[in-house]
Amino acid sequence: MIQINNMSDHHNSMTTEAIDTLEKIQGKFPGARRAHAKGLFYEANFTPNGNAIPYTTAAHLQNEAVPATVRFSNSPPNPTAADFLSPVKGMSVQFHLPNGTTSHLVSTTIPKFITKDPETFIDMLKILTADKTGHDKVDLGLGILNILKKYPERKNILHALKDQFKQPPISYAKLNYYPIHAFYFMNKEGKRQAIKYEWQPDEKNSQRKSIGTITSPDYLSEELHLRVLNGSVSFNLVIRLGEEGDVTDDPTDPWPDNRQKVVVGQLTLTKILFPNEAILFDPTIVSDGIELTNDPVLHFRHDAYAISFERRRKNE
Ligand code: HEM
Repeated sequence: MIQINNMSDHHNSMTTEAIDTLEKIQGKFPGARRAHAKGLFYEANFTPNGNAIPYTTAAHLQNEAVPATVRFSNSPPNPTAADFLSPVKGMSVQFHLPNGTTSHLVSTTIPKFITKDPETFIDMLKILTADKTGHDKVDLGLGILNILKKYPERKNILHALKDQFKQPPISYAKLNYYPIHAFYFMNKEGKRQAIKYEWQPDEKNSQRKSIGTITSPDYLSEELHLRVLNGSVSFNLVIRLGEEGDVTDDPTDPWPDNRQKVVVGQLTLTKILFPNEAILFDPTIVSDGIELTNDPVLHFRHDAYAISFERRRKNE
């Protein structure tokens, strides 16, 4: 019993430390999410095609369409930062199930996370925020160089992040989004299948903008709103089937490319919604028929998002 208390205290103080450090990157923005603060909300429909039925009993992956709430986001903690200053984009989805519960998918445009464990991530955030030398904003370029000094083996992913700054996307509707973690699907015979998800834009086009051609700090919001008003924006939900030996608890390992892919349904945005900071997306909220792995980053996210939610709810 004592040991359990100690462990949860440790986890709690680590999560608070993570959120406090996120608040040092660009300062504190009362009422806003501590990461991915600038977001756009949409109403959507998700229509499953039945292909997931052999793998899961999840209600939204059978034959009936369900409503969904979708949020696209920039990654920085500043809710008014210009769209092109965000290295990574987010796409969060809540599927509204017939029994009144929800199942969530919280994804970004990069297919893998930067660390296997939350401790290293917090250490990286601290290195990033250490060198403020009189400025009120973190110098991200310098911060990344300092992280590389301590974690040279993370070179590829850090460079990929830097490259994203140079080439911002032309539309939220044309990107692939990855929920990163593995999940287990459970079918009606109780058989377990490890999977990773991927959202693929219906109209795929990887073309990016060069910064010089961007005229508005909100160019991505403006572009997506117009698209939704003018017609449909759709994404296919794809699962990749894990094989023997594929690790399920390491978000830095995206699995080999050749894993079998199955399209399981399509999400279509139907309506623009007012931003709603009272809505929480939590990647550990999943329906029956889906189970969580032991990935420590996934479970840490549950705690971190709850603290961030609590602070913004109190308008801190
Ligand atoms: C230790 C690792 C991580 C920490 C500490 C962290 C921290 C946070 C925090 C504090 C928020 C704001 C939550 C809220 O107020 O509702 C957030 C949002 C978000 N994070 Fe993470 N994150 C981590 C890993 C990841 C990973 C692996 C992904 C990619 C799948 C990700 C994608 C997102 C997205 C898309 C949002 C926006 C959610 C929304 O639309 O409300 N994060 N993160």
